[in-house]
Amino acid sequence: MKLLAKTLQGLEPILEKELLALGATHVETFTRAIRFRGNMETLYRVNLESRVAMRVLMPISSFNARDEEDLYRKVKRIDWSRYMTEEETLAIDGVTNSEVFTHSKYIALKSKDAIVDQFREKTGKRPNVNTASPDLRINIHIYGIEVTVSIDSSGDSLHKRGYRRETLEAPISEVLAAGMILMSGYNGDRTFIDPMCGSGTFLTEAALIASNLPAQMYRKEFGFQRWKNYRPEVYTKIYDEAMAKQRVPSHPILGFDKNFQAINVTERNMEAAGLENIVTAKRRPFERLVPPPGGGILVTNPPYGERLEEEDIEGLYQMIGDQLKKEFKDFDAWLITSNYSALKSVGLRTSARIPMYNGALECRLVKYEMYEGSRKGMAPQTEEDKAASKETDKPEVKEAEQAELKTSDRPKKEIRRPASSSRDFKKPDPRVRKEAASDRSSRSERPERKSFSKRSSSELRKRITKKPPKND
Ligand SMILES: C[S@@+](CC[C@H](N)C(=O)[O-])C[C@H]1O[C@@H](n2cnc3c(N)ncnc32)[C@H](O)[C@@H]1O
Repeated sequence: MKLLAKTLQGLEPILEKELLALGATHVETFTRAIRFRGNMETLYRVNLESRVAMRVLMPISSFNARDEEDLYRKVKRIDWSRYMTEEETLAIDGVTNSEVFTHSKYIALKSKDAIVDQFREKTGKRPNVNTASPDLRINIHIYGIEVTVSIDSSGDSLHKRGYRRETLEAPISEVLAAGMILMSGYNGDRTFIDPMCGSGTFLTEAALIASNLPAQMYRKEFGFQRWKNYRPEVYTKIYDEAMAKQRVPSHPILGFDKNFQAINVTERNMEAAGLENIVTAKRRPFERLVPPPGGGILVTNPPYGERLEEEDIEGLYQMIGDQLKKEFKDFDAWLITSNYSALKSVGLRTSARIPMYNGALECRLVKYEMYEGSRKGMAPQTEEDKAASKETDKPEVKEAEQAELKTSDRPKKEIRRPASSSRDFKKPDPRVRKEAASDRSSRSERPERKSFSKRSSSELRKRITKKPPKND
């Protein structure tokens, strides 16, 4: 069957590679989307394992529409009883790039009218709309007068992995974080560092990549699990196979931040995800950071000076360049920013500059290759640089700081399956949901999603591992 995976701009090549590895065929790449073919197993697997897909859609009908009435008629012609019942709920996402259809909300409204009218005429009852947690999410895409009607197999966007417990200001999207890490070529066989880790998104995605665990291992539910043709035994097999590919990471995954609160939040997020033995987070300003020897990959999202207040943004970027030059020999350093003028202050030659978006912000993802041998990325050293590097190269400082990082040498263990995940999904009883819905004051009110309760997260922690003693 024909399928379509959506992603963020710039991540299409990564998604294409992923899809092929997950069994997709007939892959065709567009901007922010890839069309491919696969069976139901491929659809389940892509949702569970892709790190950079945002949604996976299954087109069910395409046609041309002259105007809104024509759209209404043609959406109504689709036999919707194949996909849902009048007892169930629906939500519609409209996307348009058209001179005829200019309002995506109106497209969604007309299509919803067509579907509910079809049910009402046939059964005397109509399905309700539930934008927060529908049984069927429908996507209406219009390009000019060409309409594609799809059903959305993901449900909530796939960037919502289900592992984040707390965030700070300006967390990066999980899909963007994973995409940047995969672009760097990281697969767990080198040290990974995020020197400005905030709430730890890069660290979590790096830990999942290094452990070869599926991106959505913590997620509770996918859209396809409420479909009429959902086959739980097939999905359970796919989930178990994906979890069985787990490996224990061989190299440290290290996060630092100058802010205590960021480190506390990162530690709590790692504990909730059962990753506390795989990721080490420490409070340390980048200007004092000395990585373990042997090189590695650094991926980070520094402040841009837009959303986070930063007094001297140019000075911060200059410090990043100086520090990379001084301490990060044999590292590939990747950073994303929307602040192009501050980026110049890094003062190093980039070996890649990739246009990307972080939310609405147009950014550049840049790469600096800090190889001592090739001296790529090294700006010509000034006398000042030389003097400064002599000062910070004092062996006793380096040794003390590296000894501290030894915590990352603590034994790493396998991550167990979360206490509850999409593997254990049970299709909710519509009668129960109806009662719950009538208790809510507003239909648009987002029902609290079931997440790890305090009890289940501490149970999970106990089951995952006993925490080794801290040696610092
Ligand atoms: C944009 S946030 C990173 C968000 C993170 N990627 C996430 O997903 O949560 C930038 C972080 O850089 C940290 N930071 C700023 N200056 C720093 C410095 N000199 N050394 C270390 N961290 C710094 C801030 O405390 C903040 O947590």
